[in-house]
Amino acid sequence: MKKYCIIFLIILTLNGCQTNTNISNNRTDIINKKVDSLLGIMTLDEKIGQMNQYNGFWDVTGPAPKNGDAKFKFNNLKKGLVGSMLNVRGVEEITALQKIAVEETRLGIPLIIGNDVIHGYKTLSPIPLAEAASWDLKEIENSARIAALEASAAGTNWTFAPMVDISRDARWGRVMEGAGEDPFLGSLIAAARVRGFQGDDLSKNHTIAATAKHFAGYGFSESGRDYNTVDVSKNTLYNVILPPFKATLDAGVRTFMNGFNELDGIPVTGSSFLQRDLLKGEWEFDGFVISDWGSIREMIPHGFARDGSHATELAIKAGSDMDMESHLYIKKIKELIEAKKLDIELVDDAVSRILRVKFELGLFDDPYRYLDAEREKEVINHPDNHKAVLEMAKKSIVLLKNENQLLPLNKSDQRIALIGALANDNNSPLGNWRTNSDNKTAVTVLEGMKAYPDNKLIYSKGADVNLNDDGVVKFHEKVKINDSDKSGFNAAKNAAKNADVVVMVLGEDGFQSGEGRSRTDIGIPGVQQELLEEVYKVNKNIVLVLMNGRPLNINWADKNIPSIVEAWQLGTQTGNAVAQVLYGDYNPSGKLPMSFPRGVGQIPIYYNYKNTGRPGPSNTVFWSQYNDQLNTPLYPFGYGLSYTSFEYSNLKIDNKNLTVGNSINVSVDLKNTGNYTGKEVVQLYIKDRFASVTRPVRELKGFEMISLNPGEIKTVNFEISETLLQFYSANEIWESESGFFDIFIGTNSNADLQESFELIK
Ligand code: BGC
Repeated sequence: MKKYCIIFLIILTLNGCQTNTNISNNRTDIINKKVDSLLGIMTLDEKIGQMNQYNGFWDVTGPAPKNGDAKFKFNNLKKGLVGSMLNVRGVEEITALQKIAVEETRLGIPLIIGNDVIHGYKTLSPIPLAEAASWDLKEIENSARIAALEASAAGTNWTFAPMVDISRDARWGRVMEGAGEDPFLGSLIAAARVRGFQGDDLSKNHTIAATAKHFAGYGFSESGRDYNTVDVSKNTLYNVILPPFKATLDAGVRTFMNGFNELDGIPVTGSSFLQRDLLKGEWEFDGFVISDWGSIREMIPHGFARDGSHATELAIKAGSDMDMESHLYIKKIKELIEAKKLDIELVDDAVSRILRVKFELGLFDDPYRYLDAEREKEVINHPDNHKAVLEMAKKSIVLLKNENQLLPLNKSDQRIALIGALANDNNSPLGNWRTNSDNKTAVTVLEGMKAYPDNKLIYSKGADVNLNDDGVVKFHEKVKINDSDKSGFNAAKNAAKNADVVVMVLGEDGFQSGEGRSRTDIGIPGVQQELLEEVYKVNKNIVLVLMNGRPLNINWADKNIPSIVEAWQLGTQTGNAVAQVLYGDYNPSGKLPMSFPRGVGQIPIYYNYKNTGRPGPSNTVFWSQYNDQLNTPLYPFGYGLSYTSFEYSNLKIDNKNLTVGNSINVSVDLKNTGNYTGKEVVQLYIKDRFASVTRPVRELKGFEMISLNPGEIKTVNFEISETLLQFYSANEIWESESGFFDIFIGTNSNADLQESFELIK
C-alpha cells in the first residue's frame, strides 16, 4: 500500500493549491507541478517504462502467461516498465491490466490505453474519406464524438486518429483514412475530429486523447506504394502537408504520431527538424509523440541507424517520446544513458510529456474512470449512435451522374434488379479499420432496399468480388480478387432483362484499401467491370452504386451508365443510407474530397496544381499535356450533384482593394432551380496571380452549405481578409504578398463565376 500513498500525497498536496480564478492556467500549472513531483521520485527504469508501449499480449482474463514474448511483457508490466498498451479492448480486459499497473507496481502509475478508433468503435461511421465528402464539419465532429463515447465506455482513453495526411494519389491505400487532397478542407476536418474526440475537457470519462498522424509527409509515398520514400519540396511541405497538423495543434490535440516514411533523406521518426525543432520548438507542442508501429526499429533497414541502440538514440534525440512495438527503448535507453550517449534530460522531457497527458485524462485521480462495465453495456451500440452514423453516412454519399433523372427511384410499382456481391455484403462496407468492431455487422444494401416493400425487388449476385474463404478477408491477408468466375453472369442478366431499373453495387472489397493495400490498377476490380458491361447489354437503365475506399477509374461507366452514386464504405448503417438516398428520402449533397482521374497515368492529380510555363491544352505539341489523354480529371475535387439543380449568379465584391486588418465581402446568389429541396456546398476559390514562389492555379478558401426549397434564392457571403491569403513564401515564413487575386465561386473546383481584387500592403 505504501506506493499509492506517495502518489496520493503528491496529488492531494497539489490539489490544495487550486484556489485561483484562472482555472485553466491554474490546472495546467498544477498538472505540471504534479508531473515534476512524480518525476522526482521515479527511478530511471520506471521512467523508461513510461516510454514503452506494448501491443496486447495475452488473454488477460485467463491465467498469466508462462513463457515467450507474452511472459516477458507481462513481467515488465508487473515491474512498472510499461507506460501504455494498444489493441487491448473492453472493460474486463483493460481493468485486469490497469490493476496490475496501479496495484502491483512500486509507483502505481496508470496505463494510457490507445487504440485505432478511426471511424467509430463498435458502431462504425463511414470511412474518413467518405466523411470528408460530406463537407459537414458539425456532423464530422459529432461522428468523432460518438466514436469517443463508445471507445471510452470500453476502456480506451486515447485514439490514434485523426490521420491528417494529405494525399494526391489514389493508388495509396490509406487515402481511405484521410480527408483527401486539399489542405484547407483537410485542416478544418482535422480540427473538427480533434474536437469530437477530445471534447472541451479531457478529464471527462467520455472524452479521449486524439493523435495527429503521421507526422509528416506519409501521404506523398512515391508511386502510391505504402511505406515508400517521400521526397517533397519545402514549398509542398509547408503549404500542403503541414497545415492540417497545425490545425490539430491549434485545436488542442494531445499527441502526435510520427511515421514510416522518410522525408528529405531522414526517416521522420528520427527527424529532429520535424519533432524537436518544428513541433515542440516553434509550435510549442507540450503533449507527446508516439512512434508508429516499429518505426524506430525500421530506421535500420532505412539505412539511417546502425543498430537498435543507434536507432533508439536517434529517435529520442529527435523527439519521439514513446516506442510503439519496436521494443528498443526498454532495452537500450539505460545503456545509452550509462554510456553518456543520451542526456537524462531528454528522457525526463519525454516522460513528463507522457505523464502530463495521463494527468490531463484524469487517470491519476481515478485510474478506473473509463472502466465501468455497466456504462460499457449501455453505451456500445446504443440506438442513438446508430442514428448518428446513419446521418453521417447519408451525408457522405456523392451523386456523380444522374441522366434523365433516373434517380430517385419510384417507391412503388417498379421491378428492380439489384446486382452485385457487394449489395449483399455485410462486411466490406465496414472498411479496413474495423479492428474494434465486429465482422459482418453492416446493414447491407439489399436489407436497406427491402425496407421499401412496394417494389418488386430481385437480387442476383452476378459475381463474387473476392475468392477468399467464405468471402471474408482477414486483417493481414491479401484479397484474392475474382478475375475468372463469371458463373453468375447469366442469372444477373436474366434478372436485369425483366427489370424496369437495375441497381448494381460494385467496387472494392473492404480490404482493398487501407494500410499496405496500394493498387496500380484502380478500376472496378476483377470481373465486376465485365459484369457491368454484360448487364448493360440487356438493360441500359442502370444505377451504379460504387463501394470503395479510394477514387476509382470509372471512365466506361461515366460514358455509358446513366446514374452513378459514390457510396464509399459507409460503416454499420451502409444499406439504410444507400437505400434512403436511392429512394430520395435523402437528397444527396456530398462533394468529392479527392479528384477522380481518367486513368492511373494522370496520378498524382489534384485541383490546386501549378500552372507551369506552358500550360496546356493545345493542338500543337510543346505544351504541358498528355498526347493520349486530357489533363483534367474525370470528376474534379469539390464535385457532386443533387436531385435538384442550382444556379449561381450575381457575383459581387464590395471593394476591389483589400488592406491588412480589413476584409472585403464577396457574395453570390444561389437559386434552387429544380424540383426538390436540396443542399449545396457553395465553394470559394482564390488564385494568387503572381508571387515570390509559384502559387496554385486556385485554392479553396471557403465554403458554405446552403439548403434551399424549390424556387428559393439565397445570397451567400464570404469575408476575405489578408490572413486568408498567406502562404509559405520565398522568405520561408507565412505571409501574404501584395498584388492581384482572382476569386472563383461555384459548385466545384471548376467554378467559373469570377471577380478580382488587389491586396495593398
Ligand atoms: C499505422 C498507424 C496505427 C498503428 C497502430 C500502424 O501500422 O501506421 O496509423 O495507428 O499501426 O495500430
